[in-house]
Amino acid sequence: MTRTQYYVAASIDGYIADAEGRLGWLFQFNDVEGVDAHYKAFLAGVGALAMGSATYEFILAEGLKAWPYAGLPTWVFTHRALPAFEGADIRFTSEDVSVVHEQMVRAAEGKHIWLMGGGNLVAQFARRGLLDEILLGVAPVVLGSGAPLLPASIPGPLELQGITRFGRGFVELRYEIPRT
Ligand SMILES: NC(=O)c1ccc[n+]([C@@H]2O[C@H](COP(=O)([O-])OP(=O)(O)OC[C@H]3O[C@@H](n4cnc5c(N)ncnc54)[C@H](OP(=O)(O)O)[C@@H]3O)[C@@H](O)[C@H]2O)c1
Repeated sequence: MTRTQYYVAASIDGYIADAEGRLGWLFQFNDVEGVDAHYKAFLAGVGALAMGSATYEFILAEGLKAWPYAGLPTWVFTHRALPAFEGADIRFTSEDVSVVHEQMVRAAEGKHIWLMGGGNLVAQFARRGLLDEILLGVAPVVLGSGAPLLPASIPGPLELQGITRFGRGFVELRYEIPRT
């Protein structure tokens, strides 16, 4: 059954990018044992992807030679005309997230939906009851300011489904959002 998952990593004070939109504080953990394999296992279960335009532009600015999510139908939320990435299956949209979510469920063909972020976009899904799980990587850093993890109110309590530790300080907390 398709689950809608916010798979993300944040600082311990709840930011997914620093105040300048950078992620170096997070990428320093990419080589920690188990992190890459864990990510690949997650990605193998994903059938559709959504992100906001700032996240898309961050990926574009990385100057990658190949689209890292090849074969995955990807919705990029924007009100602007943005450049496509050759070889990527991207649908630019400004439709309501509920409408897009129905399209994503169909496209995912039973696999999961990855809401990549940012937080404001995922909050739009959460407010409509369209978010099932948060897979929250917590990086052992404090940023003090930046892009928020999830500016929404979910009274919970969320159900903690798992805790995975990587190396000396990186943790993934897996939460399910209870259905009311
Ligand atoms: N740590 C992590 O795991 C992680 C994950 C994801 C992202 N990030 C980082 O977080 C930062 C971006 O986060 P963010 O929250 O600032 O931005 P974001 O969600 O990536 O992009 C926000 C933009 O998306 C567009 N948008 C949002 N909702 C929309 C809707 N319903 N319809 C149409 N357009 C919509 C708007 O831009 P326009 O309409 O002007 O285009 C909005 O300004 C980036 O630095 C990114 O790399 C980190």
